[in-house]
Amino acid sequence: MSETASYPDATVKAYDAIAFRYAEMVRGWLDGVPLDRAVLSAFAEVVRAAGAGPVAEVGCGPGHVTAHLRDLGLAAFGVDLSPVMIGIARDAYPDLRFEIGSMAALDLADGELGGIVSWYSVIHTPPRELPAYFREFRRALTPGGHLLLAFFEADGGPLAVFDHKVAPAYRWPIDDLAEVARDAGFTEFGRMLRAPGADERFRRGHLLLRLP
Ligand SMILES: C[S@@+](CC[C@H](N)C(=O)[O-])C[C@H]1O[C@@H](n2cnc3c(N)ncnc32)[C@H](O)[C@@H]1O
Repeated sequence: MSETASYPDATVKAYDAIAFRYAEMVRGWLDGVPLDRAVLSAFAEVVRAAGAGPVAEVGCGPGHVTAHLRDLGLAAFGVDLSPVMIGIARDAYPDLRFEIGSMAALDLADGELGGIVSWYSVIHTPPRELPAYFREFRRALTPGGHLLLAFFEADGGPLAVFDHKVAPAYRWPIDDLAEVARDAGFTEFGRMLRAPGADERFRRGHLLLRLP
């Protein structure tokens, strides 16, 4: 398996270049994926029930998932390394907070967050770097905080890089990704796999995790 050596710089430049087209492409996308919405609703419910702090969507892109989290009653904000994506998100949702920043080093105090959503944003992260990302998520979350991951699932195959339209990305076996999260201190409390839709190539994986 070859690694994405140019991550994150080339990845973020590629997202900058495609940002307006990407924003068009994903507009209204959540409307057509009821199972994905169900997972987001379940996440929102457990975060609200925990009564804990704000929720960061890390790698938020054009902000539509952040806005959905807000609509689910969460104090959601977005973080992304792509300045163009953040500009689009701010224009589209002027009432929400969006910051340029890296998932690898969140500009947040220890324990500041009640939840983190990574919706197809760690898909480009080279696997050997992922444990450090999850440790950073743990640092920023309060004890009992929640993490939701959405990603391309390997569907019985091994962890493998593929030619994602924007930048090389990884398909993870759901058990392997759950293990990386577990090693970083998270407990899995749910998962959802769904078949690819008509315009989608791969099975989709979702992991719901929490800190002790
Ligand atoms: C596939 S897009 C997902 C965007 C959005 N979450 C969605 O579901 O439409 C991946 C996003 O992650 C961002 N990203 C990738 N690596 C990042 C990093 N290390 N820190 C912050 N953002 C990152 C990219 O700039 C891009 O906007």
